[in-house]
Amino acid sequence: MTIIGARPQIIKAAAISRAIETHYKGQVEELIVHTGQHYDENMSAVFFRELGIPEPFAQLSIGSSSHGKQTGAMLDGLEQLMIEHKPDAVIVYGDTNSTLAGALAASKIHIPVVHVEAGLRSYNKAMPEEINRIMTDHVSTLLYSPTRQGIDNLKTEGFSINSNTDVPATFDHPRVYHCGDIMYDNSLHFSEIAERTSTILKTCECEGKPYILCTVHRNTNTDDPVRLNAIFEGLTEIALQRRLTVIVPLHPRTKKYLEQTASASLMQKINESGLIRFIEPVGFLDMIRLEQQAVLIVTDSGGVQKEAFFFRKPCVVLRDQTEWVELIETSAAVLTGADKDKLVQSVNRFLDHPLSDANYPAIFGKGNAAEFICKTIVEALA
Ligand code: UD1
Ligand code: UDP
Repeated sequence: MTIIGARPQIIKAAAISRAIETHYKGQVEELIVHTGQHYDENMSAVFFRELGIPEPFAQLSIGSSSHGKQTGAMLDGLEQLMIEHKPDAVIVYGDTNSTLAGALAASKIHIPVVHVEAGLRSYNKAMPEEINRIMTDHVSTLLYSPTRQGIDNLKTEGFSINSNTDVPATFDHPRVYHCGDIMYDNSLHFSEIAERTSTILKTCECEGKPYILCTVHRNTNTDDPVRLNAIFEGLTEIALQRRLTVIVPLHPRTKKYLEQTASASLMQKINESGLIRFIEPVGFLDMIRLEQQAVLIVTDSGGVQKEAFFFRKPCVVLRDQTEWVELIETSAAVLTGADKDKLVQSVNRFLDHPLSDANYPAIFGKGNAAEFICKTIVEALA
């Protein structure tokens, strides 16, 4: 049983569903459960349509609310489905409330939890994602870390990193794998399809023109008016300095907070510049087309940071820490938090000093992580 709910999980699930369809048809049956954490057409349905993900077997339609209320409602709905359908394992992805609810519901009724994207840490527990990821890791039976750092983090927290498959994987003896990143699989798989089919560059009138791509949605940035205003002040300044369009597919959370808290002077600057282009959230094919052609990416998204790396674009990360520390170590990305001056300086530095191949070592595997995950689940739980 695959539990998904938020945009990035739906996209991640495409890689596993594809691997099951290609290599494990007849051997593995997948039941997809959608919690309904994300529900707008362009935050959910578009990905099922575009990425060949099977229709969810069940929709909980939980929707938006506070952490406790949302996670609690998911727990209730998921537990009922798990009791009724008795899956051999439950797969959860990443670090959202849907991830935590799936992991808690399954582990309490003794269904093995498979955590894809285990081990990553920002070491900032003020982020809900950090709590979700830690809790999920510690109730999982099979943990798949995309990076070497993730493995080291788990070791530090007491996990035994033992490749001895003679010892059965159980709740009390979880097994940890270093497997590469399923989003690298997806980026490779969908890259050429996006190039061939996406019309987003035409729609945004940026075909053949340089532009910056930006996404912002972390609660630490959106819910704090000082940080949110500083980020958009910085983006407007850089756009004006370099005469570059900034394309911003706007997450609904950010739209809501910008409407409520952007200062009148910021909105005037944005409007007068004519260079900040807000668009609705886009499908994954359009998103990776925008990433492929951008001169630089500014983001606070976990997924978009890595995709910038996959497509060899310099990346300015609007966070104070990242769980993807390798990106910072290779200098392909830089952390600026919501500091306007750091943002402007970092963009200028990247644009004036292009990166080289040495900034892009192969740290996310070979593009076959999903296949490895399916193979080892079958071996471990058969
Ligand atoms: C969630 C995850 C975050 C992940 C992000 C991916 C948690 C705690 N956070 O954050 O880790 O990076 O998804 O995008 O799980 N909304 C809509 N339509 C939608 C979905 C959301 O309008 O389809 C609006 C609602 O006003 C909602 C707000 O966005 O209150 C936030 O949604 P929510 O799912 O609670 O958190 P995200 O910020 O999306
Ligand atoms: N994404 C998308 N359309 C958008 C913005 C993002 O398809 O308008 C994709 C992006 O390519 C990445 C994923 O959504 O694969 C990242 O999700 P998000 O930034 O919402 O969450 P995070 O990764 O930070 O948890």
